[in-house]
Amino acid sequence: MTAAFDSAYFRSVLGHVPTSVVVVTGVDNAGKPFGITIGSFASVSLDPPLVGFFPGTQSRSWASIRESGRFAVNVLGGGQDELCWRFAKEGDDKFEGVDYTSTAGGSPALPGVIALIDCSIESETPAGDHTFVVGRVEALQHVDDATDAMIFFRGKVNSVTHKG
Ligand SMILES: Cc1cc2nc3c(=O)[nH]c(=O)nc-3n(C[C@H](O)[C@H](O)[C@H](O)COP(=O)(O)O)c2cc1C
Repeated sequence: MTAAFDSAYFRSVLGHVPTSVVVVTGVDNAGKPFGITIGSFASVSLDPPLVGFFPGTQSRSWASIRESGRFAVNVLGGGQDELCWRFAKEGDDKFEGVDYTSTAGGSPALPGVIALIDCSIESETPAGDHTFVVGRVEALQHVDDATDAMIFFRGKVNSVTHKG
C-alpha cells in the first residue's frame, strides 16, 4: 500500500474502479439545455426514492442546471461513446446536432439511452472539490431489452454485455 501519494496516483488507483457512465442533463432559468458526463452516479435510497452524483465545484453546467431545481440522469448504453465524450468537454454548444427530446420534468432526454431518471434536487452537500447532489426521483423508465451498458475503466469506455 502507498500512504504517500500525489493526485496523479490517486486518479490512477480510482481509475481502476469501473463505473457506469451517465449524462446528467437539465436546463437553466432561460430554458437553455446543459449536460455533464458523470461516473459518480449512485442509487441512494428506495423509500424515499433518491439517487445521487458528484459534480465538481467548478462545473459550469451544474451551476446552470441547478437553477431549474431539476435534472435528468441519462444512462449510456454500450457504443454511445460519442455522447460520453461530447458531454465531458467544457463549452456551451454540447447539444449542437443532438436530436434530444424532453422529459416530463423538462430536462433533455438523449437519444438511445438505456435508462432515464427524472429528478428534483433534494439536497446539495459540499464534498471537498465536489458537491454531493441528491435527487428525488419523480419518474423513471428503462429499455426492456437493453443488452449493452457502458462502463468506464482505466480512462477508457467499454461495453459490458448482459449475458441473459
Ligand atoms: C467517464 C467520465 C466520468 C466523469 N465523471 C465525472 C463526475 O462524476 N463528476 C465530475 O465533476 N466530472 C466528471 N467527469 C468530467 C466532466 O464530464 C467534465 O469535467 C465536464 O467538462 C464538465 O462539464 P462542464 O464543464 O460543462 O460543467 C467525467 C468524465 C468522464 C469522461
